[in-house]
Amino acid sequence: EPGTAPVVLIAEELAPSVLEVLGTEVEIRHVDGADRDALLPALADAAAVMIRSATQIDAEALAAAPALKVVARAGIGLDNVDVAAATERGVMVVNAPTSNIVSAAEHAVALLLAAARQIPAADATLRGGQWKRSTFMGVEVTGKTVGVVGLGRIGVLFAQRMAAFDVTLIAYDPYIQPGRAAQLGVRLVSLQELLRESDFISIHLPKTPETVGLVGAEQLAMTKKGVIIVNAARGGLVDEAALAEALRSGQVGAAGIDVYAEEPSTDSPLFGLPNTVVTPHLGASTAEAQDKAGTAVALSVRLALQGSSCPMR
Ligand code: MLT
Repeated sequence: EPGTAPVVLIAEELAPSVLEVLGTEVEIRHVDGADRDALLPALADAAAVMIRSATQIDAEALAAAPALKVVARAGIGLDNVDVAAATERGVMVVNAPTSNIVSAAEHAVALLLAAARQIPAADATLRGGQWKRSTFMGVEVTGKTVGVVGLGRIGVLFAQRMAAFDVTLIAYDPYIQPGRAAQLGVRLVSLQELLRESDFISIHLPKTPETVGLVGAEQLAMTKKGVIIVNAARGGLVDEAALAEALRSGQVGAAGIDVYAEEPSTDSPLFGLPNTVVTPHLGASTAEAQDKAGTAVALSVRLALQGSSCPMR
């Protein structure tokens, strides 16, 4: 009824700053967005829904939300939001495109180094009471070729950080200006060249119909034997079954993986392999990134509910 505070449905855990920014003129409700049976009825009178990557705001969810004005993604990727269906319904979609780029790039570097030196396996062995120095023979990063697949905001930050290791940087990105890559000290190559030349490969692409399955069995067969692969972008860009097979055969030496085709995932074929370092989609999970993402989208929600146009950042 008129005069009632608009309902903001928080469907995933967000930074505490979100509540401060939303203020007192909205009614805050919480739901577990991954639980469809809870989410759909909770959307019935929501004016805004705030999510991270675990909540699917698809056509069905939108249809269950007749009062919805804004979908707020506290992060970057919009692969879990049907933006076209939202637009058709006049529902605004906002995200925070730079909030977690540093955190994502740092996590990719962490996975790369952890995979190169098998840190989690060595840690687990030692905690298990075994002092095994000869089992864990790593490789150096310095002097090697690092291939960056996707030289967008995160790919660039990753490349800049890896440059400190004195590596040769190559990248595949059909959209970047060659001048920009040269400025960054990165040589642009085709995907095939990148696969053939790299000692380390890190993926930094959004999930779209074009990028799903980009690195599958055929591509893994082209890599240098023993290559180390990192994916902190999206699951499905590197085919998990094909990667597991390549890790088993030794074609891929090690992998650092943060994202999975299905999430949450507790039974990826990668989890049983010794030469993998795996994390549960933690690329954006830092205090700083969550604070930035939460604050930015909470402000957009407030403005959207006030009827003003939204600042994009
Ligand atoms: C993103 O696209 O921003 C990430 O998936 C971050 C998140 O986990 O929310």
